[in-house]
Amino acid sequence: MKKNNVYIETYGCQMNVADTELVKGILKNNGYEMTNEADNADVILLNTCSVRDNAEQRIYGRLGNFKNLKLGKPGLVVGILGCMAERLRKDLIEEKKIVDVIVGPDEYRKLPELIDVAFNGEKGIGVRLSRTETYDDIIPYREDGLQAWISVMRGCDKFCTFCVVPFTRGRERSRSLDSVVEEVKQLSERGFKEITLLGQNVNSYQDNQNDFADLLAACAIVDRKMRIRFTTSHPQDLSDKLLYAIAENPNICNYIHLPVQSGSNRILKLMNRTYTIEHYLNLIQKAKQIIPGVSFSTDIISGFPTETYEDHVMTLDVMREVKYDGAYMFKYSPREGTKAYKMEDDVTEEIKTKRLQEIIDLQQQISFEKNQSLIDQEEIVLIEGLSKKSDKFMSGRTDTNKVVIIPADEKIEEGGYVKVKINRATSATLFGVPVSLVNETDNKLALTA
Ligand code: 5AD
Ligand code: SF4
Repeated sequence: MKKNNVYIETYGCQMNVADTELVKGILKNNGYEMTNEADNADVILLNTCSVRDNAEQRIYGRLGNFKNLKLGKPGLVVGILGCMAERLRKDLIEEKKIVDVIVGPDEYRKLPELIDVAFNGEKGIGVRLSRTETYDDIIPYREDGLQAWISVMRGCDKFCTFCVVPFTRGRERSRSLDSVVEEVKQLSERGFKEITLLGQNVNSYQDNQNDFADLLAACAIVDRKMRIRFTTSHPQDLSDKLLYAIAENPNICNYIHLPVQSGSNRILKLMNRTYTIEHYLNLIQKAKQIIPGVSFSTDIISGFPTETYEDHVMTLDVMREVKYDGAYMFKYSPREGTKAYKMEDDVTEEIKTKRLQEIIDLQQQISFEKNQSLIDQEEIVLIEGLSKKSDKFMSGRTDTNKVVIIPADEKIEEGGYVKVKINRATSATLFGVPVSLVNETDNKLALTA
């Protein structure tokens, strides 16, 4: 068996992080070793993102760096995985001579074979999309830790007009409930304390009679001391059943990532988001009633084609109304092949930047106020380890995903749950003192297991 060293860099969303673990699993099964240093590698792979132009520009920059490495090491194989492989296959072959391997998200099984092709001096290319590939039977390679991502479905059928994902990741398909639950069991046995179920639109998960609420509930009963998170939800598809599943299972985190994208119905329509702001706000209201203490995060795009100042103000209004705990905020970036690409990108760069800054500033103010309101409250914190800044402090998270810093104490273990009284807060971090070690994963009073 050959023993080649592979170095992988991962860009973009958590789905790519999970895919990189999958790729490592496939390569390890084929006799490859992983290395954390590009200089030691025989194979360098970049798992790429196409969602915005700046993500792609970073990859081109990285390829430039590896060009020099390759000059000194002619046998070195350089590969592009993920969304850019799918989107730019021809351009990459023709323009980027340095790239030897190009493999899209549905062809990772072929990667060992395609790397061999490249070792023999040809281009290894696999970019077909599949309607069925879920990698259900492949065990991803994960280092030991507390937190793991599990991809439960692949692809997206939503076709938001700005988004390249339906083209680079293909049609929606789900893994079987049994295989996901089995993976959760294995992670629990290895001591993981938090898993995040991943999909571009988890609400359309379907396995025979089981929907996403069934999957979440089935994962949650595996180990009540494990926190279960999930992302991403689409506002059109998030069901009442799912809200009740979150409310009824103490270890499913009270946290929903629910991208709004814009506060203007006119823009939402142009984006093909298929909901109105009224529907979105009703959903938020309903979630708050069913799940006491629930918090939300969102994605927002500023400067979509034709966006006026009034549309922008509507987005700010929605932010003020929902009071998100966190937001991922972007400038609109035209992507070739999408419907929006045919619309004129008529909001100037200057205005996009200005509006984005207003959105960022408002979110920071909201986060600060929300965190201030937690002072003197008690929160259950999953301890992740010593704080990065000082070993006199430990750091962990609430079930609503807020970072909490407490003084280090030898009685407090990494991976343990601690009740903490909050005494100080910034917009990004809570500070507090430990009250007691607990068994619960969140602030709901009793475990129902
Ligand atoms: N321009 C800017 N942001 C985008 N997103 C997706 N496509 C684009 C684009 N073309 C954002 C959306 C999505 C998140 C993952 O990325 O907000 O929810
Ligand atoms: Fe892209 Fe919309 Fe699908 Fe999300 S739901 S991946 S934004 S097309």
